[in-house]
Amino acid sequence: ASEVSEELLYLKKKEGYVGKHSRQYRDFVFKEDDVLTLTYPKSGTHWMIEILSLIRTKGDPKWIQSVPIWDRSPWIEILNMYEALEAQEGPRLITSHLPIQLLPKSLFTSKAKVIHLIRNPKDVLVSGYFFSKVCSSFEQVASLQEHFERFLQGNVLCGSWFEHTQGWMSMRGKESYLMLHYEELKRDTRSTIEKICQFLGKTLEPEEMNSVLKHSSIQAMRDNKMSNYTLMDGSNFNLKNGPFLRKGVSGDWKNHLTVAQAEAFDRMFQEKMAGLPPELFPWD
Ligand code: A3P
Repeated sequence: ASEVSEELLYLKKKEGYVGKHSRQYRDFVFKEDDVLTLTYPKSGTHWMIEILSLIRTKGDPKWIQSVPIWDRSPWIEILNMYEALEAQEGPRLITSHLPIQLLPKSLFTSKAKVIHLIRNPKDVLVSGYFFSKVCSSFEQVASLQEHFERFLQGNVLCGSWFEHTQGWMSMRGKESYLMLHYEELKRDTRSTIEKICQFLGKTLEPEEMNSVLKHSSIQAMRDNKMSNYTLMDGSNFNLKNGPFLRKGVSGDWKNHLTVAQAEAFDRMFQEKMAGLPPELFPWD
């Protein structure tokens, strides 16, 4: 096992997140037909879960309209989702935001499939800032500048975006690993869903695909109380401070980061991601 960095220790301190049941989730046994959605928070996790749920039902919206999104693809590291996770009947949909070092060992010996969805980290940063007002599990900050500094330092819920992303990218080339970009999903949703189906060994009839597209649109998700988090309102979510499904676009960082912040970000990106091919990061 690789060394646990300070960022990860920070994450482990989070009550209810990894916290107390860390031993329990580390013993979790992946099965070969499991599908794991793996993301750094605010990269489009819920969109991917909605798409995978609809692929599973061949576009029939009954399941997504009757079962909350967190029960359809529970987070392995969240204490009160663990039972739902174990009770699921296969093929299971599973979610995680954890860095690769913290995943149960069984993932790497099973044939479970991993869909790693990444997004322009500047958009991840901005999305996370607005989300911190809605969700108390996120660090509460006084300003975007404060969130910006914490994000660059990796002093946020899941640690450094740079380390998290590089860690999971080390699985590139494995048959059981598919890396996708939020930006391509946004730009060409249909072909990206076809790519996902191919990876999962599934086929959809044209009308089934149309139904997947229709029911996973951001508007459909906002209108679906099983996906818009209104059921969680008042717990650690406070939807008075903003919607769970905010804008859903690529490049919103341009409306929020200053030129100086963007430049400082780019310098950090160059330094941390040096050595990885630029085509892995097709955004501006
Ligand atoms: P923004 O805050 O930039 O709008 P996660 O699910 O990992 O928390 O990611 C949340 C981000 O994904 C939010 O970004 C949200 O709007 C976006 N998102 C969620 N569902 C979407 C959809 N159907 N289409 C496009 N973007 C979506």
